Amino acid sequence: MKGKIIVSPSILSADFANLERDIHRVEVSGADWLHVDVMDGHFVPNITIGVPVVASVKKVAKIPLDVHLMIENPRKYVEPFAHAGADILTFHYEAVKEDEISDLIKYIKSFGMKAGMSIKPKTHADKCFMFLEELDMLLVMTVEPGFGGQMFMADCAEKINQIREKSEDIIIQVDGGINKETAEICKGNGANSLVAGSYIYKSDNIEKAILSLK
Ligand code: DX5
Ligand code: ZN
Repeated sequence: MKGKIIVSPSILSADFANLERDIHRVEVSGADWLHVDVMDGHFVPNITIGVPVVASVKKVAKIPLDVHLMIENPRKYVEPFAHAGADILTFHYEAVKEDEISDLIKYIKSFGMKAGMSIKPKTHADKCFMFLEELDMLLVMTVEPGFGGQMFMADCAEKINQIREKSEDIIIQVDGGINKETAEICKGNGANSLVAGSYIYKSDNIEKAILSLK
């Protein structure tokens, strides 16, 4: 797949006491979207941020908010996150009954948001094939969701290729352990959106780090 690579820095690695500063830092350095990791302490063992913080982020962010829901019962929170200003809303395949997924995608889109679905490292690519036409984005996790700063699981990269073979158009996003080297592997397999938290925020030169992913 050719074309633009959408880089979405994860604010999970930002300084939450200086969130506005850290959002502007990536915006002026070429970030395309802002990745917001929402965790509930049930679907994943960690708790991060919720609706009020997303609403505050929306007031200062100039680029689209790419909201990654790592929560149980995502449908319940679609409307609150839509009102908070999410532009792309991604739920986890593992958090929804399979026969309710199509309806959830329609529901997300009914608020004018792009709909994304994410698969955890142990979930096979074929589980999402039947939803590719309905989805705007498929997010392939390359770490177990829950924490920033983990090691890229290289064996997940093959799934990107399998999904790309089924759909030329869908945005394939990769999240977890992304840096200059692992980004190359993902792009080589057909990914066109990269999330990176620690690689971008812990870098001495944010602009250079973002550019190195494109
Ligand atoms: C992990 C989150 C990621 C995380 C990535 O569960 O979904 O978005 O912030 O962090 P890095 O890029 O440090 O692996
Ligand atoms: Zn994420």
